[in-house]
Amino acid sequence: MNAARLHLLLHVFLSAGVLVRAFDPFTVTSSLFGISAALGRTIYDYFRHKGCDPESIVFNATGLQLDLQTKLFRQHIASRVILKAVTGFMSNDNPKKPLVLSLHGPSGTGKSFVSQLIADNIYKEGMDSSFVHVFTSELHFPHSSHLDTYKLQQWIKGNVTNCGRSMFIFDEMDKMQPGLIDSIKPYLDYHENLDGVSYRKAIFIFLSNAGREGIIQTALDFWKAGQDREELELKDLETVLSVSVFNNKNSYFSSLIDKNPVDFFIPFLPLEYRHVIECALAEMKARGVPPDRNVAEQVARDVVYDLKTESVFSVKGCKTISSKVDYYT
Ligand SMILES: *[C@@H]1O[C@H](CO)[C@@H](O)[C@H](O)[C@H]1NC(C)=O
Ligand SMILES: *[C@@H]1O[C@H](CO)[C@@H](O)[C@H](O)[C@H]1NC(C)=O
Repeated sequence: MNAARLHLLLHVFLSAGVLVRAFDPFTVTSSLFGISAALGRTIYDYFRHKGCDPESIVFNATGLQLDLQTKLFRQHIASRVILKAVTGFMSNDNPKKPLVLSLHGPSGTGKSFVSQLIADNIYKEGMDSSFVHVFTSELHFPHSSHLDTYKLQQWIKGNVTNCGRSMFIFDEMDKMQPGLIDSIKPYLDYHENLDGVSYRKAIFIFLSNAGREGIIQTALDFWKAGQDREELELKDLETVLSVSVFNNKNSYFSSLIDKNPVDFFIPFLPLEYRHVIECALAEMKARGVPPDRNVAEQVARDVVYDLKTESVFSVKGCKTISSKVDYYT
């Protein structure tokens, strides 16, 4: 319904209200009650089911490419795969299945951040868009009950019914109950529709630490061999990911493995001292503070490095940089 029609309806309802005033009080009250209920419903429906709103969903491939290049630190594999996957999917008006991305790696390496970059370049309101939904197992589904399962299914169904181009981000996927993951499996697959709803234009993004040990070990081996990190390729990490992720019976993949609806498993590499410096410089720049190399180095020295990696990699990537920059500036 467009605004003009809503206005017309409002007008009709209000005129009806005036007309009934001529009758006895009981009729007036009950009619007014009926009218305001109907009016309330109309306004509610108007704002709630406004559909996809094409003006607020415009994919910007150039913007995504630029953001990945300039804002996501030293994740050449993730940048490449994500740009290709998202661009391909968004340029297809009739995809066969929803896009399902599974992002893996240590914390602070940019998994949530990249989800935000994707949202920023698809939805005008980015993460604040009403078409973007973030679920955290502990926050949204703490009970691991049937109620949670039902709720999640209804949310996905309701939102995709309202707008096919919806995006769902599942944080801490490795902490999700297997039952919950099972319950969303049908939406991720090749289906024309399910109960009349098509999920094929939706995007699902799973974030997890699963496979982090394998990724860290591979990156460390590369580092020790004196090889350039940029030479690491997806295939170098795919094996590692599948061994550490798929063979783990407790991991969420054992539940997803049989049909494997995940389109891309994307590794995020651990970050070194020099990358932490870059993060700190970028943080200052983003705040409009002149980037100060001394401060950035101080921040990077303050970060904890993983002894198991001979202190090559930061334990929390660039996660705590913001508060440390606060402290030193
Ligand atoms: C797409 O992103 C680029 C780079 O951020 C920007 O310059 C351009 O204006 C954007 N285009 C649209 C249509 O928003
Ligand atoms: C859409 O998802 C949100 C959670 O992000 C939920 O609160 C809302 O009820 C869902 N909408 C529908 C129509 O199901």
